[in-house]
Parts: sequence; C-alpha cells; structure tokens
Amino acid sequence: MNKPFPENFYWGGAVAANQCEGGYREGGKGESVCDHMTDGSRTAPRLYTNTLDPEKYYPSHNAIDFYHHYKEDIALFAEMGFKMFRLSINWSRIYPNGDDAQPNREGIEFYRNVFQELKKYGIEPLVTLHHYEVPYHLSDAYDGWFDRRTIDCFLRYCETVFTEYLGLVKYWLTFNEINSAQMGIGDPLSLGLRTADGAGKSFGAKATPEESTRRYQALHHQFVASAKAVQMAHRIDPAYRVGCMVAGGAFYPFTPNPDDVLKAQAEMRMNYFCGDVQVRGAYPYFTQRMFEELGVQIHTEPEDAETLRAGTVDFYTFSYYMSTCSTVDTDVEKANGNAVVGVKNPYIPSSDWGWQIDPKGLRFLLNELYGRYQLPIMIVENGLGAEDHLDADGHVHDQYRIAYLRDHIRQIREAIEDGVPVQAYTPWGCIDLVSLSTGEMRKRYGFIYVDLDDKGHGSFARSKKDSFDWYRKVIASNGTDLED
Ligand code: BG6
Repeated sequence: MNKPFPENFYWGGAVAANQCEGGYREGGKGESVCDHMTDGSRTAPRLYTNTLDPEKYYPSHNAIDFYHHYKEDIALFAEMGFKMFRLSINWSRIYPNGDDAQPNREGIEFYRNVFQELKKYGIEPLVTLHHYEVPYHLSDAYDGWFDRRTIDCFLRYCETVFTEYLGLVKYWLTFNEINSAQMGIGDPLSLGLRTADGAGKSFGAKATPEESTRRYQALHHQFVASAKAVQMAHRIDPAYRVGCMVAGGAFYPFTPNPDDVLKAQAEMRMNYFCGDVQVRGAYPYFTQRMFEELGVQIHTEPEDAETLRAGTVDFYTFSYYMSTCSTVDTDVEKANGNAVVGVKNPYIPSSDWGWQIDPKGLRFLLNELYGRYQLPIMIVENGLGAEDHLDADGHVHDQYRIAYLRDHIRQIREAIEDGVPVQAYTPWGCIDLVSLSTGEMRKRYGFIYVDLDDKGHGSFARSKKDSFDWYRKVIASNGTDLED
C-alpha cells in the first residue's frame, strides 16, 4: 500500500478569470455574462441584471485584482512548488463582443505575460477556454449558445489563442463543468442564454420542457464546438492535449430500497452524459429516454455525429467537492451544493455552507470514471470553502483546510493504488477568490489569504495561511509527507 504519487505528478492549484482577475473593463476587455452577476450570500441568491446597476455590487469587476497582481501571485505559487496552474482565459478579453472581426491585442498580451511568468518558474498552465465568461454581447444579441452561430465565434477565439500561445501552453480544457448546463445553474453563466433581469441562480430547480430544450440545444452546440476545438488544436499543434471538464459528484443510494438504487444510478449519469459525448464521441444509450422524460427535442445537423466522433478529448478532468444521497423518499433532509444537490448523508459531516465532506467519495468516483473511460484523469478542482479568521498577528491558522485536503489526498493515493492513472491535483481557489455560488469573499478556499471583504473593501494584500507551508511540504515530498 501507499504507492507514491508518480514522479511527474502535477501538484498545483486552480482559479478562473471571472473570480480572480478583476480589471473588468481594462485593457480593452468587453463585458462578459459573469460581470452581470451581483453579490449574494448563503441565504440571498446572486442576481443577474442585464443593465449594470450602480446601486449594486458586482464582485467580478475587481475580484482579487489578479490582473495587476499576477506576478506576485505566481511567485507565491512557485514558492509552494506548484507544477501546474489552472486558469481560464476570459473570452471577452480576447474578443470583447464575441463576434468582433479582430481580436484585442492587449488582452492577448496580458495572457502571454501570465504564461511567460509561469514558464519562468517551470509551472505548466492548464487553460480553460470557457469558464462562465461568455461575452455579454453574444448573450444579448444571439441568445448565447442557443444560437449555432456562437460555435463559429468560439472557434475564432480558439484559433486565436491556440496560435498565439504556441510553445507556452500544452494543456487545454474546452468547457468548465460542461454538465452544469443540465443542472439549472447554467442558463446565463455556462450557456450564456438570454436571461430575465433579476433572475437568480437556481439550483436543481425543476425545468419546463421548453427550458430543458433550450438548455440541451445550447449544450449540443457546446459539444460540437468542443469537438471542433479539439480537432483544431491538434491541427495547429499535434502536441496540444485537450481535455473535457465535468462537475463530478458521487451519488449513493440513501437506502437499499431498489427504487433508491435506481435513482442513484440515474443521478450518477450526471457524471456520464457529457463525458460520454466528449470522450466516446456520441450521445450515450440512455439519452433518448432521458430526453423523452424531460420533454426535450433538439435540432442537430447531419454532420454533427461525425464531428463529435472525430473530436474526442485526450484526457478527462473533473471537479470534486462532495457526495450526496439519492432517494425517492420526499420526507428527508436536503443537502446543499454547487452543482451537486441531493439528500443529506448521516455518515459524513458538512462544511459551513452545507456541502458534504466525503474524501472516500473521491476515490469512489475516480474508480468509476476511469473504469468507464480509461483515459488519464486530472482532478482540477477540490477544496473547502470556509470562513477564515485572522489571529492577533494577522495569521490564518486553517487546520480545518489542511485536514480536508490531507484526507482527499490520501484517497487519491488509494485510487492510484487501485490502478487509476491520476495525473494532476489542482485544488480550487489556491488563492482566495470570489465564490461562484454566493459571490462572497468570506467563503475562502486559498492557501493565500487576500485582504478583501464581501463588498470589495480591503487592501488586496496577500498573506500566507498555515496551509501554505503545509502544501509546500506536500509537494516537496511528492505527497508522502502529509503531516502538519
Ligand atoms: C465549481 C466552479 O463549480 O465550484 C468554480 O467551477 C467554483 O467556478 C467552485 O468557484 C466552488 O464553488 P463556490 O460556489 O464555492 O465558489
């Protein structure tokens, strides 16, 4: 037992442009859909507004100002020994409106500088092309991904970045948590769908057949775009490796009642539906019945099947935060979550935001996913969103975060022992950033504390938490020294 992590294992961390960059109108950047999301809290949902309301606070506008602090931040990642840094390119920085004839040179240069800075320290970038950053104009004028023309806009953007960053980037991800479209959280953010003013982000809300049809139609266009982007990347540089990114979740039957088992099986398909299309190149066998039950009817072009087949990904990546339970019983306590919502499991604890903490669920899911796809796997998000408190000297003693990450790393090691070829672990929000689900700063994931509150007040100063030194030792020992 205790097989070590492979020699070239990618330890690192992950962020997304809209949650860390800020500079939302600097350097020629256009507005993106996430720039239209207000702040929120554990109890008050974030709201989407078409017009930016000066009375409201939009956290992405300044975020943690990575736009101006990237050198300092990357130096801190290097000090921890990062081998990989996952970040997204904000599409609206490269094509401010999404359908512009020419890209924005300043935006291109910004990311070139970031990639060069990473290269200086030997940190491999893992670049997400689409992380809730659809240019707002595409949403407004085209209805986002519902319109097939958005595929071409996306491919023009891909061609620009694949060409510009030759020699600086090797690993790409097409769509962050592409399956979030299925969960009712994707309308404005992951699909760029035109959205009513004041609509909040809904979790697992029951959709009408019309709403589901819009989502799956838009998702189909993302599948086609992803497959074409994979082929394009390989054409531009055969060394490019392109992966998918799925919101992962383990679903356990709440009881041995066969109805609960069947329900858990159906909910596990949340992990497989998009993965099957992107890894196997075709919609899975259960699609027809699922569409019938949801009342979904989508339009596809005759050439789409061949495009999907020819554009399968090179590796599989996913986020993992929690497991949940499935049951047909309605008289049960519900569990919270970002992408994964379900029923509370009495055997495991929850975070302050109600997300169930289940390291063994990660081992379970790694085995399930590898068993199905037999592709190299990266865990590109994982972590504990928690409220941190500064001691009298201004330090954060985040033993709870260390315990969370340690337990998950142990289970990754178990999965490697099981035979799963895990290649990377990039915990989420390696530096504190804006929470996606609540828009708060107080929900912190980082090894690095950022002095900023929920309304964007603070000095933006960075400081190391206890977990910083701990993670540095973990990386230096290639995952063998997990103690404090
Ligand atoms: C994932 C997203 O769903 O979860 C991230 O890809 C997000 O963008 C992360 O930040 C954690 O969720 P939250 O709501 O705590 O920020």
